[in-house]
Amino acid sequence: MKFELKDRDASGRIGKLYTPHGTITTPSLLPVINPNKIAVSPKEMKKQFDIEMVITNSYIISKHKGLKEKALDSGVHGLLDFNGPIMTDSGTFQSYIYGSINMEPLEIIKFQKEIGVDIGTILDVFGTPNQTKTEAEQGMKETIKRAKISVLYKGEMGIALPVQGSIYPELRFACAQQLSKLDADLFPIGGVVPLMENQRYTDLVKVILASKKGLDPGKPVHLFGAGHPLIFPLAVALGCDLFDSSAYIKYAQEDRLIFSNGTQHLKDLEELSCCCPICSSYHINELKKSEKIQRTKLIAEHNLYISMVEIKKIRNAIRVGKLWELVEQKASENPQLYNALSVLGKKEEQEYLEKHEPVYKKKAIFYTGPHTINRPQLYRMNQRLQQWYQLAHDTIIVFPESTKPYHVTYEQEITAIYRRNPNVDILINSSLGPVPIFLDEMYPFAQSEFPEFIDQATIKHNKQVFNHLTKGKKVLYWDGKKTLELLKQEKKGMTQLDMDIKRIQNVATMQFGRNTDKILFKGKKSLVKSKKTRKIRNVYCDDDHIVSMRASDGMFTLKLAGGIRLHAHVPFPRFRVVVQNDAVPFIKDGKSVFAKFVKGGDIQLRPYDECIIVDQQDQLLGVGRCLLTVDEMIAFSFGQAVKVREHISD
Ligand code: GUN
Ligand code: ZN
Repeated sequence: MKFELKDRDASGRIGKLYTPHGTITTPSLLPVINPNKIAVSPKEMKKQFDIEMVITNSYIISKHKGLKEKALDSGVHGLLDFNGPIMTDSGTFQSYIYGSINMEPLEIIKFQKEIGVDIGTILDVFGTPNQTKTEAEQGMKETIKRAKISVLYKGEMGIALPVQGSIYPELRFACAQQLSKLDADLFPIGGVVPLMENQRYTDLVKVILASKKGLDPGKPVHLFGAGHPLIFPLAVALGCDLFDSSAYIKYAQEDRLIFSNGTQHLKDLEELSCCCPICSSYHINELKKSEKIQRTKLIAEHNLYISMVEIKKIRNAIRVGKLWELVEQKASENPQLYNALSVLGKKEEQEYLEKHEPVYKKKAIFYTGPHTINRPQLYRMNQRLQQWYQLAHDTIIVFPESTKPYHVTYEQEITAIYRRNPNVDILINSSLGPVPIFLDEMYPFAQSEFPEFIDQATIKHNKQVFNHLTKGKKVLYWDGKKTLELLKQEKKGMTQLDMDIKRIQNVATMQFGRNTDKILFKGKKSLVKSKKTRKIRNVYCDDDHIVSMRASDGMFTLKLAGGIRLHAHVPFPRFRVVVQNDAVPFIKDGKSVFAKFVKGGDIQLRPYDECIIVDQQDQLLGVGRCLLTVDEMIAFSFGQAVKVREHISD
């Protein structure tokens, strides 16, 4: 079964999942259909709410004579009267609820195959949160054992192998790794319903992260039993692609309406504040007075509508790079969810999340509260400041936060300082942390909006970064003439051109690493600047066009001449994406690099990083922009991996 990545933000992704009954866009919500009692038909769901795929239960079908006969006769698609993709579950959940069930692991696989489901699920062993580690390990091992035999019988059917291991991260990780070696099409994260029912979101986050770390990044991930939209944004940001909802109907049966941040009982509502087709065509009193069956259907429809709106909001947030904002906003609506975000501030998790975080986004970072500073792109920024950037001089002059771009606001002061003495560094004490003046147009320094007053935790965090960066240096807080007088007058000051050169060197160091500026910009430099904005556009060295600077985020795009320099002076595999030799003609023909052709490369490359493309003998083929990490390029068999910008032709 094909799965392809189309867009991404945080560790979340927009994908296409190709099934025999059509293609769906992920993240996606699969409503649970009870084949005994269909309240809203899958057809209606598709027409009214853009539902693309549904999930039903093969165990329930197999245990009901009439349903079983119909399913064997006209397939599961005939049974549900739906020609879109259908996934089935296996009876694991029933086994968890009732203690045990009468079903053999292979029997249920064969049945799912017989009734023609698109994705069937193995009979995994549900690991509960209160198990001891030994119990959890036993269940996990049994799940793996069943997975190994079940995949042998999948045939043409897609197969889902759930990750178990209770709340033990080591077990989750090990289980995910083992299952990833098998021929699976989907990896659900199982055993999490009790965590969600008890709002144990901190544990849920740990379970998702531990599982994701062990899973094949090229396969879709389903969060089993997650039907409430409250946790959708966070689960997607951590890498979940599919959800199933029985909540829409369960809540409806209890007269409860789902809203994006929680549920409300119909009797507690005096007005319908929602604008779904149901709430806009019924008065609340009509709804309250309607017959039970009718009311359940209407509320279920409202619930589906709200749930799908949330999925669409998430997909839109990914498209513009605003998923973390959505996650943090949601967390501010539920204290348990808010607590769970603290897990993301742990170094180990930040390191993991940073690997999948795009290096730039279409939109600026908006501060929402104390969790904002933990975002992976800010973690990366600080790591690079400390490890790659490093201030060059012993004296640092610090300016307070002001209007952006800082170098324009402080133009006179900066000119005065550098005319006097070029051997000082200038930092802005911003709400995002210390900003070196020559990085002030680069993502995320310029593309961020923080309020005037920020929380204490962020202030403390920024102080630590500042102290680390300026350790052992003389720090002068700008005080006009007094500061200038403290500077020793040097013979040669800095000109505007020097400052522009400093800027390109600083940006290269932050974007590509230490000393890359010396490699890229060796020789006689000339710059093309925009007449209107005065921003640097193109950088030439010895008449070669090395890089361009994107106006929107102040980052470089690599030109072929720049790629040639990196390739010649930076040892393999840094910056490389290695393609197999039979793909070379396509690249020489100007085509993109497809994931299936990638053999390996630099694991330091991040999504949207600039890269160089080489063949298996490290011969340079071109330069481009990574859409995937190298691990993902290897894992995915479909879709684009690198957008080629310029290539070497024969
Ligand atoms: N539905 C909810 N949780 C689970 C799970 O862990 N496994 C399966 N197969 N179905 C589920
Ligand atoms: Zn509504």
